[in-house]
Amino acid sequence: MRRWTLLLAGAALWLFLAALPALADGGPHVSAVNNGAVGLGADSCAGCHRAHSAQGVPLLTQQEGPALCLTCHGTTGVGATTDVESGQQYTPAGASGTDRGGVALGALRGGGFVQARIASGSAVRISYLSGTSVRLLAKVPVGAAQNVTSAHLPIVNGKVAVGTGTAWGNGPDSTTGSAGPVVKMDCVSCHNPHGNGQYRILNTIPDAAVTGTDTFVPAAVAAPVTDATLPPTGDSRNYTVIQTNGGTGTLLASQVTALALPPTAGDYFRRKVPWNGQTGTSNDAPNGLSANFTTQIATWCLTCHTRYLGNGYDTKEADPIYTYRHTSNNTSRNCITCHVAHGSNAQMPGPYSSVLKNPGGSSAPVGDSRLLKIDNRGTCQACHDPTGTITATSPQSGPTPVPLLP
Ligand code: HEC
Ligand code: HEC
Ligand code: HEC
Ligand code: HEC
Ligand code: HEC
Ligand code: HEC
Repeated sequence: MRRWTLLLAGAALWLFLAALPALADGGPHVSAVNNGAVGLGADSCAGCHRAHSAQGVPLLTQQEGPALCLTCHGTTGVGATTDVESGQQYTPAGASGTDRGGVALGALRGGGFVQARIASGSAVRISYLSGTSVRLLAKVPVGAAQNVTSAHLPIVNGKVAVGTGTAWGNGPDSTTGSAGPVVKMDCVSCHNPHGNGQYRILNTIPDAAVTGTDTFVPAAVAAPVTDATLPPTGDSRNYTVIQTNGGTGTLLASQVTALALPPTAGDYFRRKVPWNGQTGTSNDAPNGLSANFTTQIATWCLTCHTRYLGNGYDTKEADPIYTYRHTSNNTSRNCITCHVAHGSNAQMPGPYSSVLKNPGGSSAPVGDSRLLKIDNRGTCQACHDPTGTITATSPQSGPTPVPLLP
């Protein structure tokens, strides 16, 4: 009962806030509003804080980070168009542009924490000739909702839980044999609830609370991910995998609706976007700024997973666990080419993939998909034919993609 009251309060808050021009998109997370630069009338504080009757630290309406965020961004939340639990964005309700309408707009880029809609079993690959070399390009379509097989926060009984995890590879190259510190992380480890003008309000120096013996080492240098300008009032960004033609524009929720693309449009792999056979030639750039997005986001992931930086597959690093590393920060093969940021439903039934140990040798949950987007190690085949037998005229692997272009 109490929860519903809160949700309704959230919805009403949004109808009201949307009338203020400065709020446009970004919900309560607009830094210029929260820092007082545009005047001392911010209402947003009341969406998350209480002065005398708070339930969590620091003076929050809910006990722990994820619960607060999920009052708006969860499956039953209505205060935001993005539902990060079910991995879906809805159309904005009415003209307010912020709170949730009933119609699915598309599948979220980050996958989802509880369910995700990655058609991880229907990846498609084509081969073609570029000069004398055979090249491969792959697409991962959007599919039906499935429970996740891995998530960036612990999931217990189908809910985002507060718990601990290992920040794999955090810190400088190690000789101690530690795979990474055990930490407690939540939404605000990665996102800045007050807004900071960054892409997806990502903290430029992500942090996590240490719970184990190893020290968590935050980045010494900020890792910004440039944001696009905010859309006009009454609209909302498109947070889905549907990209603009050319792949480098920020698409608004209203534009996606006008294009009448089904919510199943888009490509999760987005090595070259948007997918259209061989002609998708741009690098992923959902902020509308093609320069640097992919390397910026990889640099950002590396603030926590420091030792995942690949300096060339044949470079031996001074680390007994992460000794040789695949390229991970290139424009066409970076962390979010192979991984989603929130959670994946990819299936790992194979005898090798299903029982893969964690770095350092501890056991991982059986079938853990490591936030990958393709079943088993289809990820590798999306770019490689290790047999050298696929020619430019080889038949396509996987179902025929529908090249839905905005
Ligand atoms: C979307 C939810 C949200 C909104 C809106 C919000 N806050 Fe917060 N605030 C948080 C969370 C979550 C934390 C704890 C952050 C953390 O632990 O990193 C926090 C922390 C703080 C802190 C402590 C900062 C620190 O560095 O420890 C202050 C002060 C604060 N908020 C004030 C405000 C004020 C004033 C407003 C309105 C102008 C506001 N907040 C709006 C969620 C919010
Ligand atoms: C009172 C409702 C509310 C709460 C609570 C809330 N959000 Fe939001 N958030 C929104 C709205 C509205 C948007 C605009 C986009 C949309 O509709 O999803 C948004 C957008 C975002 C975005 C995208 C921002 C951008 O500029 O690209 C992120 C990331 C986000 N929220 C994270 C969080 C996190 C983390 C928390 C918890 C600390 C949180 N939100 C709590 C309402 C809320
Ligand atoms: C480990 C870091 C991390 C954590 C933890 C995390 N996020 Fe995110 N989130 C990201 C990144 C990175 C993106 C951008 C993904 C992309 O562009 O592919 C993102 C995107 C989003 C978006 C935009 C929609 C989308 O799927 O792209 C929202 C909304 C959001 N996060 C909210 C949340 C909320 C709420 C929580 C907690 C329940 C949370 N995030 C926890 C890193 C994180
Ligand atoms: C704030 C620090 C932080 C940032 C930033 C961060 N991670 Fe993580 N990552 C963690 C922690 C902690 C875990 C362990 C989570 C758990 O076990 O619940 C983890 C786990 C993972 C896993 C393994 C999941 C599994 O099921 O085994 C992958 C893959 C991953 N991160 C990729 C990424 C990518 C890609 C990015 C950038 C989009 C990123 N991380 C950014 C802290 C971070
Ligand atoms: C070419 C695809 C690819 C790229 C690029 C990539 N990863 Fe991975 N990642 C994988 C695969 C596959 C696994 C599963 C473990 C394995 O096979 O080594 C994995 C596993 C992980 C894990 C879980 C722990 C482990 O090693 O098993 C983390 C954390 C992780 N990756 C972080 C990152 C970060 C951070 C980046 C970017 C700096 C990145 N990955 C780039 C493919 C990739
Ligand atoms: C997004 C495309 C992409 C994905 C996905 C990918 N690779 Fe690669 N990989 C490359 C490229 C390009 C190179 C060569 C250049 C370099 O090192 O960056 C390479 C290099 C390699 C090499 C070094 C030998 C060589 O071919 O030059 C091996 C071995 C390798 N990859 C294995 C894998 C495995 C195993 C996976 C799955 C876990 C995988 N790759 C996933 C693109 C990819």
